[in-house]
Amino acid sequence: MITFDHVSFTYDGEQFVLKDIDLTIEAGQFVCVLGANGSGKSTLSKLINALLLPDKGHVFTKDMDTAESENLFLIRSNAGAVFQNPDDQLVASLVENDVAFGPENLGIENPELRDRVTEALHIVGLSGSEKRETTALSGGQKQRVAIAGILAMHPEILIFDEATAMLDPRGRRSLMRVCKDLHQRGMTIIMITHFMEEAAQADRVIVLDEGSVVLDGTPDEILTQDEKLRELNLDVPFAAQLSRMLQDRGIDVATHIETESLQKELLERFNITLNTEA
Ligand SMILES: Nc1ncnc2c1ncn2[C@@H]1O[C@H](COP(=O)(O)OP(=O)(O)OP(=O)(O)O)[C@@H](O)[C@H]1O
Ligand SMILES: [Mg+2]
Repeated sequence: MITFDHVSFTYDGEQFVLKDIDLTIEAGQFVCVLGANGSGKSTLSKLINALLLPDKGHVFTKDMDTAESENLFLIRSNAGAVFQNPDDQLVASLVENDVAFGPENLGIENPELRDRVTEALHIVGLSGSEKRETTALSGGQKQRVAIAGILAMHPEILIFDEATAMLDPRGRRSLMRVCKDLHQRGMTIIMITHFMEEAAQADRVIVLDEGSVVLDGTPDEILTQDEKLRELNLDVPFAAQLSRMLQDRGIDVATHIETESLQKELLERFNITLNTEA
């Protein structure tokens, strides 16, 4: 469980970029954090694994106060974070060494270490790339290596701060599948994203605006509030826009947030069968 208890944070001692945040994230929850640029998402995520400490209030990660230095090792090894730019995150020149770096620092030894590296590279779709030079990889491939490095530490909490921004659509979809899979195995996932189709798949969506939580609920509750989302400078999911357009034209469909489910309803409604084998 992660708790923000009246947390405020300032970088310069003057302007608070997080203001009195009160939040509880249950273990095993898959949470998406949305918000315009500068709304405080990255700052929030860095408070979870004690990269930053609150100026007011307390953050408890797995019930440990992040401000107490004796908790630091346990917090960092339990809450792994992947950021947007993989160049800042890779530490070794060979892929396998990079992925092994985190777990090795936790004291994991061979043969378990080797197994973890193999497993993590498999999960991110990079099996067979063990001996490749990290400098010779594309941005998206580097990002997968960074993710594998975190997965190999077997954290209980996984934080993705726009970690999919560099990936192509297929890479993003496959990472979402990985996230859902890890979530099903009990991992807590905090995903910061600008992609609504990713947010649609979470258990819970939290929206920040100027350092405060302004919306908090299920994807269906939050992502269908088109006017509010536009006001907050956020996208409205394509499926929600189209649902609304159809409703305005008198077609009685539910408001969907995922394209597949809208498509399914429309196909059923109009009795259309797609020949998927063609
Ligand atoms: N290292 C820093 N020093 C000073 N101010 C900072 C620093 N990092 C962020 N800020 C400021 O804190 C506020 C919140 O920034 P943060 O990076 O948390 O936003 P964000 O929601 O992650 O934005 P983005 O969508 O652009 O990543 C912004 O006003 C930003 O200018
Ligand atoms: Mg950010």
